[in-house]
Amino acid sequence: MNAANYSGTRGLMHEEPLLFERAHRASEAIALPGLADAEAPAALQAFLRNEEAGIPGLSEPETVRHFVRLSQWNHGIETGFYPLGSCTMKYNPRINEQLVRLPGLAHIHPDQPEDTVQGALALLYQLQHALGEISGLPHVSLQPAAGAHGELLGIMMIRAWHDKRGDHKRRIVLVPDSAHGTNPASAALAGMKTVEIKSAANGQIDLEVLRAHLNDEVAALMLTNPNTTGHFESNIAEICHLVHEAGGLVYGDGANLNAIVGKARPGDMGIDCLHINVHKTFSTPHGGGGPGAGPVAVNDTLAPFLPVPRIEKAKDAYRIVHEDEASIGPVFGSLGQVGVLLRATAYIAAFGREHIHRIAEDAVLNANYMLHRLESAYHVPFPGLCKHECLLTDAHQNRHGVKTLDIAKRLIDLGFHPMTVYFPLIVHGAMLIEPTETESRQAIDAFCDAMLEIAAACEQGDTEALHAAPLHPIRRRLDETQAARRPVLTWPKHSTGG
Ligand SMILES: Cc1ncc(COP(=O)(O)O)c(C=O)c1O
Repeated sequence: MNAANYSGTRGLMHEEPLLFERAHRASEAIALPGLADAEAPAALQAFLRNEEAGIPGLSEPETVRHFVRLSQWNHGIETGFYPLGSCTMKYNPRINEQLVRLPGLAHIHPDQPEDTVQGALALLYQLQHALGEISGLPHVSLQPAAGAHGELLGIMMIRAWHDKRGDHKRRIVLVPDSAHGTNPASAALAGMKTVEIKSAANGQIDLEVLRAHLNDEVAALMLTNPNTTGHFESNIAEICHLVHEAGGLVYGDGANLNAIVGKARPGDMGIDCLHINVHKTFSTPHGGGGPGAGPVAVNDTLAPFLPVPRIEKAKDAYRIVHEDEASIGPVFGSLGQVGVLLRATAYIAAFGREHIHRIAEDAVLNANYMLHRLESAYHVPFPGLCKHECLLTDAHQNRHGVKTLDIAKRLIDLGFHPMTVYFPLIVHGAMLIEPTETESRQAIDAFCDAMLEIAAACEQGDTEALHAAPLHPIRRRLDETQAARRPVLTWPKHSTGG
């Protein structure tokens, strides 16, 4: 299979100057007649500009072509395979787009009277209900605008629950060292103290370490399951039991729900509160921009604290509840990111109750197929079947002086978007690859072929191209530290005298 068939990275070969660098003053997109100072109404005189606006002088076609060319630089799930582990960059079915663009959904306003938006409310209510069933946690808020936002809401509710019981000293949130970076950040934002707990050698929660950290100041454990190594926490029931016994609650990071959806329910495992990255599990992939949504599902314990507004069904009509005594209040301007939520509704409906387990089965099958094809060439830190993503390291390639970064950059030359690199942090030289359920065997094979080609080049000592990669794109290897520490985000006007 020709890797270039799946390429989405080939458009990076042409330099595209900034509009300012291209500008030639003689040409303007729209030439307006000059406005003499005297003609401006008196009230506006104070706002008249004394110097030129500095807008680049370009014709309309030049401007349009510039932006279209830039758009072609973007790698998206519609241009190629996008195997970013932990991001679940799955294909977004076109029918979802058509549905959310229906005027009755796309042209409504959050402040419209309820009786004029009953259809949209019905679909959102249906999603609330479906997420409650899927998670085993029946009470759902659709408000959070991202996974991290859901985490913040969840920890705020857990804090409110402890406070309501007069247990004000419970301010510690335990976070495994394998957690996604947003977990400790969200807990800190909710005013809690985070304490990291070290994972066992197999990348899972070490029950002894957990026991040693549990005390009467612990408000919650924040746990991702399947965890960020792509494995299911095999002691999940015991973990939840220990935390509950110590008076804490278990917050589930449900961002990896695509691995178990329709097969197992976090609520049944003992999780009290869970956010679901619907933009991962149920299409609308994030990363590279675009909105998300992180609905939160809770059990009866936390239900009274859920934010308002939320949707309720009263006989045959749907209504928005704006006030609720114990609620922590709103965490978003309206009901949530409705466009993203409706796409999720469509994705779930397309499978239905009967077939929703296919999402998890295909995602897990694809990841294990990939693992199987690559395990002879790459080091697998936690052997055995994985869930939705497969984790490799650069340990074998290190012997030839080749690192994860070299492999990732070489993939760009071979026409692929690289996998997630150096995450999870607990695994040295990590490469986390998530094919998702929407990729064909051909696409996965083409990616594996490229990975094997790289490994073979290492074995043959043919590492020059690997160290120099990427060779094809106009931007080669950047100084990523400088780019993060000293980003240049503005055009230096003086450099071209423009
Ligand atoms: C495990 C995990 N937790 C939390 C998040 C945060 O989600 P978001 O980027 O929507 O804030 C992600 C994002 O991919 C994730 O993979």
